[in-house]
Amino acid sequence: MCGIIGYVSERDCCGALFEALRRLEYRGYDSAGIAVLGEGGFRVCKKRGGVAGLASFYAEGKTGIGHTRWATHGAPSDQNAHPHIAGKIALVHNGIIENHAALRAELEGEGVRFLSETDSEVLAALVQKYYRGDLLAALREALSRVEGSYAVAVIAEDRPGELAAARYKSPLVAGKGRAGLFVCSDIPAVAQEAEYLAVAGDREFIRIAGGEIGFFDGGLRPVPKVFFRPEGESRAAAVCGSHMRAEIAEIPRALQDTLAALGKADLAPCARALRSAGRVFAVACGTAYHSALAFRDALARDAGVPVFCYSAGEFRYSPPLVRAGDLVVAVSQSGETADTLEAVRLARGLGGFVIAVTNTPGSSLAAEADFTLAMRAGAEIAVAATKSYNCQLLSLWYLAAELLFFRTQRYPSWFSSLKELPAAAEAAFSLFPEADRLADLFKERQGMYFLGRGEDVCTAREGALKVKEIARVFAEGLPAGELKHGPLALVEEGFPVILLSTQRRLAAKCENAAAEVNARGGYTVLLSQYEDVLRQSRARAALRLPVLPEPLMPCVAVIPLQYFAYKMCLERGLDPDRPKNLAKSVTVE
Ligand code: M6R
Repeated sequence: MCGIIGYVSERDCCGALFEALRRLEYRGYDSAGIAVLGEGGFRVCKKRGGVAGLASFYAEGKTGIGHTRWATHGAPSDQNAHPHIAGKIALVHNGIIENHAALRAELEGEGVRFLSETDSEVLAALVQKYYRGDLLAALREALSRVEGSYAVAVIAEDRPGELAAARYKSPLVAGKGRAGLFVCSDIPAVAQEAEYLAVAGDREFIRIAGGEIGFFDGGLRPVPKVFFRPEGESRAAAVCGSHMRAEIAEIPRALQDTLAALGKADLAPCARALRSAGRVFAVACGTAYHSALAFRDALARDAGVPVFCYSAGEFRYSPPLVRAGDLVVAVSQSGETADTLEAVRLARGLGGFVIAVTNTPGSSLAAEADFTLAMRAGAEIAVAATKSYNCQLLSLWYLAAELLFFRTQRYPSWFSSLKELPAAAEAAFSLFPEADRLADLFKERQGMYFLGRGEDVCTAREGALKVKEIARVFAEGLPAGELKHGPLALVEEGFPVILLSTQRRLAAKCENAAAEVNARGGYTVLLSQYEDVLRQSRARAALRLPVLPEPLMPCVAVIPLQYFAYKMCLERGLDPDRPKNLAKSVTVE
């Protein structure tokens, strides 16, 4: 989605805005822009394309706003890029103004002429309409007319040194950095330089003026805030060439840190909630949904507890299933995914007890859940989720094991092996040369399948998602048993089929799938930790995974697939940190 930044500095803020936008770019890279308030009014530069297009722009001024756009209303273009200027007001916005058409018609009727097709310019004009010297009051009045979601920052030509901002359903933080006081969409974008910051709650307002940051509720009454110092973003990307590659390299360390954090967590409230829970649900989107599938498998297998696992976007529109006391586990790296948040609001509204599993303790999800299990993957910048997935698996297994202990007074047999995950993840890196070879072999293919059974299905789905997203190759992840119910029709000479076989009880069944693919000329690649399974297979290539208890294999089996997707992306001349049409944090529906 879009990224917004605003600064009120003691010196020129243009450079700081540009640097923050470079860090925010993973939220959207369709267009970017900066407005700086200087002696002669606003100086604006906004362009279609990435933030690099603003590199030559410089303007003097201590107050400014910036934006990096993921287009919703209006194509990526210079005109549709933010900031939008309306009279004395400059505005940047992330979110969607749902009633923009009616507001636009009203304002046009009053003589306003719009330069862009965006919903955001309508909001800028609305703030201008209500502006009589009090920026915060004008923003509040404008937003009272708006339906939709927003993180918005505004500055006024006649109010240097002042900025007003607000949020509803789109993330926003404010704090103090080396370059001055700021508002920003995301903590990682300012983590390197922030001395302290605080997170705005929904329907809260922020005013920066007179060298101070104030938070206010909807009635503009002051809201006390806890400010904290965020963790810095890893610098590994500079060494590895891309965030995605760096984040794969960080998996062992991320698992280690998450293990340490889990060891300190007191899960008693979760266990108590399970005692009264009629049923257990898991909700998440994308990669996080795949980790929720693994949670479902663990609780069903080890505790005999069925888990109703939903894609959050489906859950929120399904008949209201949750009953008072039910346990709902919501998984989200960012903690800002709109569908997951809405699912949580729905579940809580129905009386469910919500456990958030997130990488972002300051997120909206953490704020709205009854209990937060914070993993410690560290900032994940690449759009493709990698290390956060491994840490989600670890956290969810840990949670499942604690819930099992609560019910039966015993931990599952694999529990003590969770501490082996960091070393096993590192050992999986030895498969990268073979993944390199396969990426080279398959780089021209138009499609591929990832198959698995039982605990391997989540890995198959996640491998396919990574290839689709990063390498832009059609890929489908399926239970292997589904192959002959339709997908086999596409298998032809050389068609790649990546087959996961880490569960001994299912190995023979997986081998059937390999045989069916081979018989049609497909190119089967088998991943297993078992030497004999690999040796006896008819697969054309074999990757020997590190050995762990079978229930934990998804955490290591996915690593060569994450890397394979990354390498396919490079082989196809694409940028792994900028998958087409996607943004890191999906804060709109
Ligand atoms: O921040 P979240 O975990 O809630 O994000 C959910 C999905 O948007 C995300 O996992 C997405 O599928 C990944 N970018 C895929 O790599």
